[in-house]
Parts: sequence; structure tokens; C-alpha cells
Amino acid sequence: MKATAKDKHISLTPILHPWIQQLLHDKDLLAETVKQENSPVNIQSVLPFRENIAEYQTIFERYGLKHKIYFARKANKCLTFAKVAAAAGEGVDTASLKEMQQCLEAGISGDHLILTAAIKNIPLLELAVQHHVTIIIDNMDEYESLDSIVRANEVPATISIRVGGFLMEDEKIPTRFGFSLTEAYRILTEQIKDHPFLAFNGLHFHLNGYSIDQRAAAIVQCIDLIDKLAAEGISCQQLDIGGGYLVNYLERKEEWITFHQELKRAVLGQRSALTYQNDPLGMTLINGQLYGEPTVYPYHNEQAKGIFLEQILTSQAVPYDKPIHELIQARNLTLCIEPGRSLLDQAGITVARIVFRKQDTEGNLLVGLEMNRTQMKSSSADFLLDPIHITHQSTEQQEAVSGYLVGGYCLEQEFLLKRKIQFATYPQVGDLIVFPNTAGYMMHFFESQAHQFALASNVFCNENLHMDKHDGD
Ligand SMILES: Cc1ncc(COP(=O)(O)O)c(C=O)c1O
Repeated sequence: MKATAKDKHISLTPILHPWIQQLLHDKDLLAETVKQENSPVNIQSVLPFRENIAEYQTIFERYGLKHKIYFARKANKCLTFAKVAAAAGEGVDTASLKEMQQCLEAGISGDHLILTAAIKNIPLLELAVQHHVTIIIDNMDEYESLDSIVRANEVPATISIRVGGFLMEDEKIPTRFGFSLTEAYRILTEQIKDHPFLAFNGLHFHLNGYSIDQRAAAIVQCIDLIDKLAAEGISCQQLDIGGGYLVNYLERKEEWITFHQELKRAVLGQRSALTYQNDPLGMTLINGQLYGEPTVYPYHNEQAKGIFLEQILTSQAVPYDKPIHELIQARNLTLCIEPGRSLLDQAGITVARIVFRKQDTEGNLLVGLEMNRTQMKSSSADFLLDPIHITHQSTEQQEAVSGYLVGGYCLEQEFLLKRKIQFATYPQVGDLIVFPNTAGYMMHFFESQAHQFALASNVFCNENLHMDKHDGD
């Protein structure tokens, strides 16, 4: 369908932290950084990261809770953030041998680390034991491996047990992780209680998705288990409720709502496309009927970070008739969280250079960037934030144009964003495109080196807008 006068472009305006706004005004510095570091470059700042830690600390203090924040390193590979978390008195959640080794080599003590890796091989378990890192046990084979290590070496180790399969409205929340609550009770009472080397310190869970109610239900079910264990003389010092705290990426709720409405109209053929080849972003069209919702992150939401945590803590714990925070405090538990994405909110941008403009066979404008799709990739169907076009052209007497951003991998699907982007002026070769708020997962989680492309460099922008090289990958 051809665009009509009614087919307005739908903006999705990103929230920009002041450090990003300041940097965007310094076009020469951005250009110089790309020239020095090549395209694309990840520019990051520890300022928002510190603020995000402080936001969670404030909530814990408000409810008088003993706490520990373990930054989930998997969300960004730069060691700098792990060091900042430790310097703020918090800890780091490590998910691989290298993540743990780097933290230890950086001087972060093992007491401030936890190990949640999905696959824990023998060298990883041995390193954790050697440095007194709390090991989160997920399954019996993992337990047996650790048991052999500590018995063979006659050394102690501290463990938490990962639990899952919580009930929500009589339905089990499905997961591939952890022990059921019943199994956890059995191994704790039968195998771990009198273990000569293993010290149990608590329960752990991490839930997929962003449900406050599910988290509250999971906490209550953990508390029930903690009480049953206490009756058997097994004391639990901490409860770790994992990550998954929402981030709000967008300025305006109306834009978010309008985007959903207009995407549906577009897919139904009632207006021009908002996405390349009218991609439904996860919805299904069958015989003119549209099913489902776009499978995208809730980029706009009103319950982000500290508010999200606070809503969990103030949820009413159903059979107890008390808020969650009171249950935790009454048992003198340390409440641990493992935020990744939300600690990195506003902590980074990805900048790439425009290399070509062309039209595809359908007449769409394609803007080629010197980067590839894995260097700014979401696990959601699209990253729904407007990128920012940096150009020296004046916008006066220019007409806005729209088109799509494409990258360097030789696939028909190599679109950096599926969404059609509006440019205030026609993009020029050498102009820059800035993708905002990419530090959490977007810049590192999926990056690959197909075609032998180099990985992007990572630099840190300090308060004087000076770019420091990232220390170690
Ligand atoms: C065990 C565990 N903890 C913490 C996290 C971090 O989650 P988020 O970045 O959504 O806060 C994850 C993410 O997958 C995880 O698997």
C-alpha cells in the first residue's frame, strides 16, 4: 500500500541521559571518536551505572533490608562496570570462567562474586571453590561435580540452591532451571545438612519475563521453604531473586500506544508499512485476521528499576497478610538481586558511519552502515527506539526522508532495525547514526565476527567528555 497524507511517521523518542545529550551536541568529538576507533564504536559512561546502583540501594534502605546487588555481567562485557559495582560495595554475578577470572584479576574479592553460569565445568567450579565464590547449584550433576571437588581437596565451598517451578494461580511457571521446591528440601535435608565441606547459605531464583506478581509468588514460596528448613535446623541467610527489572527506554507513552495501533493497521494493509516488507514483529496474519501482539520488549513502561523492585517488596504476601519486605526482614534474610540490563540503563550508545545510500528493487531508501547486525542486536523482534542522525547539514529547506538501516553481513535480512526510520535531512556518506541506550545486552550479547569483521571498540566517556579506552576484554 502506498503512503497517503494520513500515513504519518510514528516516532519513538528515546530517553537520553544528560551525558548523552551533551555528547550529541559535540559532533566533532563524535566524528573524531569514530575516526580513531573505527565504526561502530560503543561509547559508555559509568555515571548512569552508579546512579542506577544508588536507586536500588535507596529502595532497600527505605524498607530497612539487608541487601546485596550482584551486577549480572553477562549484559555487558566491559570489566569497568564490574569494578564500579564492587567499588560501590556491591558484587558481581558471573556466568563463565572468563567473567570470573577477569573479576578476580581486577581485585574483586571472591566474597563479592556469585557464580550462576548455566554450564559449570570442572575448571570453573574449581576456581569458584578456590576463591570462596558462592556457587548457585542448578542440578544434581553439578552438585555431584562440586561434591567430588571439595571431598578430593578437603576444602569448603559455599552454595545456594536455585529453585524453580513456582505455582501461579495453580499453574506451574515453566523453567529449564533449578530444583523444584520439594527436591530442594530433600537434598538440603538429606545430603547437604551434614555435608563436611559444603555450607548452604540460601535460595536463588531468576524468572523469565517481567511479572511482579510472579516474583512475589516465588518469594512467598521460597519463604515457606526457608521456614520448613529452619524447622529442620537448616538456616538460610540469603534469598536471591535474580534479575529482570524493567527499563523504560521511551519518553512518551502516546508514541508507544500509537506505534502498536499503526503497526497493526499496516500489517492489515490499512496504511503504509512501518517495518521492512511489512514485518509483523511476531504477530501472525491468517486470512485477514491478526493474531497475537508484537513480540517486543516493553520499551515504554511505568514500572522501571527502583519502582519495579519496590512494587515487588510491597506486594501483599497472600497467606501471610503482610507485605513481602516484612517477611524478609522478620527472618533476617539478606535480599540479593542480580540486575543486568537495568544497571546499564543509559550507560552506553553505539555509533556507526554511513557508507552508502541506495534504493532496493521496491524503491525503498537503504542506508548502509559500517557495522553489522550483531553489533546492535536485541533478542526482541526489533529495538524500538529512534536512532539519531548526526550530520553537519542544516535542516532548513530540506524534506524529511524515510528509509531503512542496513549492515555488513551478506544476508537479505541484514537490517539493523526492521522499523522504517525518518531522517530530517537526506543522509550523507560520512554522517553518523547513534543508537541510544545500547549498553544492556544490545552491544555485546550477540556480537559475532563472521566475514572476519573486527569487534567494535569500547570506550568510556568521562565527565570532561574525554574518551578512555576500555580496560580489557
Ligand atoms: C541468573 C540470571 N541472573 C540475572 C540475569 C540478569 O537479568 P536482567 O539483565 O534482565 O536484569 C539473568 C539474565 O538472563 C540471569 O539468567
